[in-house]
Amino acid sequence: MTTLPPKEKRQVVRYGFYRLDPAWRRLTAERQASAKIEFGETLERYHGRLLLRPYGLVGIRGDCDFLLWQVAEDLDALVELQTALNRTDLGAYLTIPYSYLAMTRRSIYEFPADPGHEQRLVIQPSAAKYLFVYPFIKTRAWYSLAKPERQRMMDEHVRVGRKYPQIRLNTTYSYGLDDQEFIVAFEGDSPGEFLDLVMELRDSEASSYTLRDTPTFTCVQMSLWDMLDTLGGAGAAESVARRPAREDGFTPVASLSELPPGSAKRVYAANEAVALFNVDGTVYAIANRCSHARASLSEGTVDASRCTVTCPWHEGVFSLETGRVLSGPPALPVFAYRVKLEGDTILIALAEAHQPAIS
Ligand code: FES
Repeated sequence: MTTLPPKEKRQVVRYGFYRLDPAWRRLTAERQASAKIEFGETLERYHGRLLLRPYGLVGIRGDCDFLLWQVAEDLDALVELQTALNRTDLGAYLTIPYSYLAMTRRSIYEFPADPGHEQRLVIQPSAAKYLFVYPFIKTRAWYSLAKPERQRMMDEHVRVGRKYPQIRLNTTYSYGLDDQEFIVAFEGDSPGEFLDLVMELRDSEASSYTLRDTPTFTCVQMSLWDMLDTLGGAGAAESVARRPAREDGFTPVASLSELPPGSAKRVYAANEAVALFNVDGTVYAIANRCSHARASLSEGTVDASRCTVTCPWHEGVFSLETGRVLSGPPALPVFAYRVKLEGDTILIALAEAHQPAIS
């Protein structure tokens, strides 16, 4: 049997699939709205401690509504997160029809021509639009084959996979931790391409040693707030008290005491999510959604000396003064808003939001 590799650093991974009780949609709009905000802000508090990726399944599967892909350094973080979610108002209306626990580890097979294959000890999700997830169990007959024989079949698998370079595989291991042996999660931008890959893999010799590879989930990557809005009910953005614009075009959005120097905050104004930053006493406001794959920029990392924010997902760097892209994958800038302070009140000029030139 395989021996434990020396002290490799591993992560724990949970694929939690949640389903909303339709009774929630009959609550008042105010309660729906505040429940979304509470749930979303609870998740945001865990960013940094866990890697959290929301995916929507509304319109795709009938038995679950969203996935939270959770990656942590230890199991305690997963327990704490779920405990916090259970305490929220929305959490009282959620069930978890599927939950899969796994860990990263190195493959026991060798892929010299493809050194990155199966060796991911640290999960780094890509910007791909879709995630295709399923639990996987091999037959016991597979384990009684000699290792060179299994390696030969895995080589064939890899050869097929290489024909679909846009599809990226994340395999995590569940032996002894959960009912399945692996969780297989493919990232890609084309469901059709993934379908072709899976069909071709069915012809491979290793496929005859599959005991179970269902249920299968096709998940759509989206921002946390967009995902919450797929659940129906009042929009999260509508949930926050509407602050009407004044005659001078400025709208109060927060108080300065809520935004101490060095901090950031997401607020809503006219149904737009806006990221506020206090950089050494100066307040900046830009659109909260990254123009690349809609990550929440208020969770990004600020460089005060350059007056920039780095997107938490793929390290796109935006100017806080102009919204321009300074580096990284985003092709488009984000809106930058004029800001003024009146006493403790932060106001932004929605009408004067400007879209700077593309870098
Ligand atoms: S979401 Fe990809 S750089 Fe922001």
